[in-house]
Amino acid sequence: MAVISIGSEDRVFVLTGAGISAESGLPTFRAEDGLWAGNRIEDVCTPEAWERNPALVWEFYSARRAAGAKAEPNPGHVALAELEKRLGDRFFLCTQNVDDLHERAGSRRLVHMHGELNMAHCELDCGRAPVEDRAIYRDLEEVGRCVCGGRLRPHIVFFGEIPLEMERIQAEIKLASLMLVVGTSGSVYPAANFVHWARMGGARTVYVGPDAPLNASAFTNVVEGKAGEVMPGLFLVQ
Ligand code: APR
Ligand code: ZN
Repeated sequence: MAVISIGSEDRVFVLTGAGISAESGLPTFRAEDGLWAGNRIEDVCTPEAWERNPALVWEFYSARRAAGAKAEPNPGHVALAELEKRLGDRFFLCTQNVDDLHERAGSRRLVHMHGELNMAHCELDCGRAPVEDRAIYRDLEEVGRCVCGGRLRPHIVFFGEIPLEMERIQAEIKLASLMLVVGTSGSVYPAANFVHWARMGGARTVYVGPDAPLNASAFTNVVEGKAGEVMPGLFLVQ
């Protein structure tokens, strides 16, 4: 059984992807039965898709909200929340996921670089902050409007848009002595570069997942297995 030792000086940066939510019953993106098998990115996850057919975009994200509301955190999420409790401000979690399973498992020191399913923001980018929005919309007419009149859109970073919190993420990677990457295929940038940035800073880099990611060669360790199965006993905190 693999063990990742974490010393009293170590600072840990964790990046998660859809794989950590797979055992909670949420589909990943690029598996045969994944989200991009049943939906076209160009139809539901680009600024042009939103311009062309906002109803279809809200239909896609409303269905993901409904699935997310039924899902529960799994032992992989819980293991990360417990590690955060042990390490405090020596722990930082960046997730590519838009579900709230990390928060519901107890994680607090985290950012959602691709946005959040249960939030919405003004389509006109008028500067107002994103708002909480858990609605399952059946019809575009139900979708609320910003005070400026703009229609609310999912607070999701569409392809072609800039990921969120990149300054904070880069600063935390610079400080990290250990990067743990869990359940992501390494298909999307800049997230797939994080392991290279960590290596350049001299950090240990560990991947956890059942299949080798595209950037597998950048990892000092690969722990093969499902997050919910291998993560509970994975960390030895000194
Ligand atoms: N435990 C850990 N990893 C798993 C599990 C599991 N139980 N099941 C599957 N995986 C792994 C797969 O091996 C795969 O490498 O999860 C990864 C999922 O890869 P993708 O479907 O590509 O999802 P992800 O890497 O998170 O996608 C990145 O792409 O579509 C965009 O914005 C979207 O955030 C997403 C980004
Ligand atoms: Zn507005």
